[in-house]
Amino acid sequence: MKLYLDSANLGHIKEVASWGVLSGVTTNPTLIAKEDPSVDVKERILEIHNIVGGHLSVEVVSMNAEGMIKEAEEICSWFPLATIKVPMCPEGLKAVKELSKRNIPTNVTLIFNPIQALAANNAGASYVSLFMGRLDDIGMNSTEILSDISEIWYAQSLESQIIAASIRNPLHIVSAAKLGVHIATVPYNV
Ligand code: E4P
Repeated sequence: MKLYLDSANLGHIKEVASWGVLSGVTTNPTLIAKEDPSVDVKERILEIHNIVGGHLSVEVVSMNAEGMIKEAEEICSWFPLATIKVPMCPEGLKAVKELSKRNIPTNVTLIFNPIQALAANNAGASYVSLFMGRLDDIGMNSTEILSDISEIWYAQSLESQIIAASIRNPLHIVSAAKLGVHIATVPYNV
């Protein structure tokens, strides 16, 4: 299982990259704003890209597919290997369908159940991100849900990669690894 860092903190990213365990980084607008609300997003993304070199998911903030696609085009003009993080919702799926036609990799985020994961895969997502911590926050068993998703993925030989996201503790990482999940994106403190 690959490990990504769920962060926009350059110091943390540099540190973990130096350990040789880092395959990528996922960001979101909250993580970027938390570091510095006045930061230039493009500049920060390119700084992260220069450190990691591997996978980097950059999230769009538009509410409709057209806006998401425009943002994706802009992000890809910053660096062509960007993975576009798109929210799980009907407009997000439309955007994923179009981006997949253009061979632009997408990471469908904010997935909370196997049906959403399957829909994202079928729309053409390259990655599907299940939010474990947030599921646990609302009294759901995130490991069971991840287990269902993993079972479906292996039964159906689906091509997209599962990301265990919203990781809050080391047991989330262990569960994801045992279930054959491809990637866990982990905050620095965990
Ligand atoms: C994933 O890519 C998200 O950035 C992240 O895991 C969000 O999780 P959280 O907001 O629940 O910490």
